[in-house]
This record gives sequence, structure tokens and C-alpha cells, in this order.
Amino acid sequence: MNTRRGIILAGGTGSRLHPVTRSVSKQLLPVYDKPMIYYPLSVLMLGGVREIAIITTPHDQDQFQRLLGDGSHLGVEISYLQQAEPKGLAQAYLLAEDFLAGGPSAMVLGDNIFFGHGLSQMLQEANNSTGGGTVFGYQVADPSRYGVVGYDKAGKVTSIVEKPSKPLSNLAVTGLYYLDETASEKAGRVTLSARGEYEITSLLEMYLNEGSLNVQRMGRGYAWLDTGTHESLLDAGNFVRTLEKRQGVQVGCPEEIAFIRGWISADELERTAEEYSKSHYGRYLKSLIV
Ligand code: G1P
Repeated sequence: MNTRRGIILAGGTGSRLHPVTRSVSKQLLPVYDKPMIYYPLSVLMLGGVREIAIITTPHDQDQFQRLLGDGSHLGVEISYLQQAEPKGLAQAYLLAEDFLAGGPSAMVLGDNIFFGHGLSQMLQEANNSTGGGTVFGYQVADPSRYGVVGYDKAGKVTSIVEKPSKPLSNLAVTGLYYLDETASEKAGRVTLSARGEYEITSLLEMYLNEGSLNVQRMGRGYAWLDTGTHESLLDAGNFVRTLEKRQGVQVGCPEEIAFIRGWISADELERTAEEYSKSHYGRYLKSLIV
């Protein structure tokens, strides 16, 4: 079986957060105590993905590299791809075609934050599925901002529409896509939308029409957070802070996941802990070594 490779899409201009994102990529901004990209990276790792390509704009790539390097200190292999012009999410499957090497993929948007009990198992199940695609539907108060699932009385999914003005449901498609090895070929057949993008929803519709799309419900016990505006970014940071302060554990800590999974040794974890020893993140890493 071909191993599933991961993609983190971290391109884009972040124009809704200007001037904050004039000189720093949005996905590197802090969500409380760590860079935003740690959260989606942790999601891929929780699902068991260890070969990951990060897609960035050409001018932001070196900053991501400085942060994450080749991923070896996290027990994963990280490579970098450039998206010269943000032309929509489906384009990622064309940019990553060689990297995917004809195998299945797990793509997560670099600004999506997921949290919840049982998340790890849900991700591992999606990771282990074969053929077709798995995406996650999450109830939101403002579906028009997202890709929206339409379904019939029997609960069968009948459509996925990008940012509909009259949404057929409150179920948004989250930015996490487990697709089979046909994704790049399908992405090549997606045509530009009215807003000039290769929409991920068009790609998902192809799976839907084939009868091979599994829309998994992410229930109300999960948090799927947005970081697209100053307000939602602050809310996400406060959410993480509240949990971390109350429980004394980290949300979105790739080093911890790697250590628990046995992907890195105590010595390797210790090295990172030493490097960050002046921060509470570093002290937390240190506390994991017993
Ligand atoms: C994108 C997708 C949309 C999805 C959303 C999740 O929208 O096009 O289908 O629901 O991500 O975050 P964007 O954030 O690019 O507007």
C-alpha cells in the first residue's frame, strides 16, 4: 500500500489581516504560545502522516524553513513547495503531484485549528481508509463563508457548494481533506470559478459524483476554529490559553506527538527543550521526559 503523504497549504496573502501580514505569513502568526502552523501540523501527525510538504508563497518559504527545518527533530520529513500565485485550494494537488508520487494524501489548511476528544482516532480512521475521499462536516452559524454540504431527507450528501448565498444547510466542510491517489488528476480537470479560483469544492464534487466521498460529521464536542480575522485569531488564542492554563497540557504540540508515538527519542526531545528552555513551551517539553 502506498503511504499517505501530507500537505499543509500555507500560501496566500493574508490580506484580511493586513497590515499584520504584510511582512509575516499568516500561518506563522502566534495562536497564543506557538505559531499557527503547529496546529495543522499536529493534526496531520496525529493521523499518522510523516511525510509532509508545506506549500508557501516564494518569499515566505525561508521563514517556514527556519522554523521547521527538515522536520527530523519532530520525527517527520518536511519538504517545501512554492505557490507563486494563490489560485485556489485545488491547485495544491497539482503543485504537489510529484511529491505525492501517485499515492493518497491528507491536506490541511495552514490556518485551521481542530481540537476535541477522539480527534486522533477519527484522523487515523480517515488515514487508513482506502479509495475515494473523506472530508469533515462541521456545524457553523455562518455557513455562507465556507464550502457547504447539501443533503437529502435520508441524510445522503447531494451537493457541496462554495460560499453559497443561500446555504442548503449549516454544515461547513472543514479545511482537512483525505483524498485518494486520483486527486491530482481530478484537480487538473477543475475549471476556474467565477471568483477566479480552482475551488476545492469542485474537486470534491467529482468525488461526490463518483459516489466515493465520505462526509464525516465532526460533532459539537469538537472545536474547529477560524483564524481569518483579527477577532477570530484572538478568540482562537484565548481558547488555547484557557485549555492550556486549566489542564497544564499543550494543544498542538508536534514534539509531544512525535515523542509519544516513539518517532523521536528522549534525547532528541531534550535537545529541543534545551533550545526553548526560556519559554514555557520549552519547559513543558522538558516535563515530558521522565
Ligand atoms: C476554503 C474552502 C472552503 C472551506 C474553507 C475551510 O475557503 O474553499 O470550501 O470550507 O476553506 O476553512 P477559504 O478559507 O479559502 O475562503
